Amino acid sequence: MRILLTGTSGQLGRSLAKALSDFGELITPQRAELDLSDLASIAPYIQQCKPDLIIHPAAYTAVDQAERESELAYSINAEAPDILAQEAKRLGIGLIHFSTDYVFDGSKGTANGERIPYSEEDICAPLNVYGASKLAGEQAVVNSGCAHLIFRTSWVYSDFGKNFLLTILRLAKEKTELNIVNDQWGTPSSTLFLSNAVKQILLQLQQAETPATWWQAHQGIYHLTPSGFTNWCEFSQHIVTHAAQLGLLNAPLPTIQGIPSSAYPTPAQRPQNSCLDKTKLSQNFGIDIQNWDLALQSCLQNMASLKLADANV
Ligand SMILES: NC(=O)c1ccc[n+]([C@@H]2O[C@H](COP(=O)([O-])OP(=O)(O)OC[C@H]3O[C@@H](n4cnc5c(N)ncnc54)[C@H](OP(=O)(O)O)[C@@H]3O)[C@@H](O)[C@H]2O)c1
Repeated sequence: MRILLTGTSGQLGRSLAKALSDFGELITPQRAELDLSDLASIAPYIQQCKPDLIIHPAAYTAVDQAERESELAYSINAEAPDILAQEAKRLGIGLIHFSTDYVFDGSKGTANGERIPYSEEDICAPLNVYGASKLAGEQAVVNSGCAHLIFRTSWVYSDFGKNFLLTILRLAKEKTELNIVNDQWGTPSSTLFLSNAVKQILLQLQQAETPATWWQAHQGIYHLTPSGFTNWCEFSQHIVTHAAQLGLLNAPLPTIQGIPSSAYPTPAQRPQNSCLDKTKLSQNFGIDIQNWDLALQSCLQNMASLKLADANV
């Protein structure tokens, strides 16, 4: 199988490239070969590389910057997926696309003290340009009529790239006190967890007797994150505690205080509750959904063993 995999210089793309390395031939264009903001170049590129499947984690992901670069965000997050989807339809191949919890406004409350998660059927009402541009991308993929899987994920991190985990590890070394927002709820998603889930789903596709029937039965939007919910403050406390236990951080550790979002204003408004219900994913693919804290520990354990390996070189 020839797989066109975009965004391999990013967090998720890089993990997917590793997870799918023995899955077939991966075509992994960098921005210089396929610039998604150069819309006219996308269809000719796909026609020339003739993939059997497109996996598309590349996106404009700078949530705050998108407020002042809305045209560029829409071009990359909505118009480029539209072209990818139309080409997938024309070639009769599948498209795996990624979207975000920020398509929701986060106004769902709590029941019995627990956050009420959003299902795939809930109404989308993004609060910021990034979320709106990603929602437009989802709609374009669905409307194209191509065989598709759209995975909405949230709070993505890995041992690489620009993310909350690495920011907290850096700040924990620099500061004695961290003030972190504690009124936004969601689920941190390690790229290791995400790429393993995608791999399991692709194995199911590979084993299907008739791929076209498989796509018909499975295509649609799915929520894909580990299980459980937390807030940014609690997430950072878990990062610091586990990192210290694994020798990635040394004492003295910073104290971590919760603050409201109102004390940390950002250009883009974020949803307060972006917890996602994964029932549809479990029912349709039967894959194991790891708890977010265990996924965090796996990521940190990998980082610790790489550090140990580096030290032993
Ligand atoms: N990060 C999160 O917290 C989060 C949360 C929910 C959903 N998601 C979704 O999950 C997916 C993966 O996110 P991520 O965190 O892995 O993203 P990321 O680390 O920011 O990587 C984005 C990738 O997209 C590429 N890209 C951006 N603009 C491009 C352009 N004009 N032409 C070609 N490539 C371009 C980047 O290439 P360069 O290296 O050249 O810039 C990079 O490889 C995205 O669909 C995102 O919307 C992310």
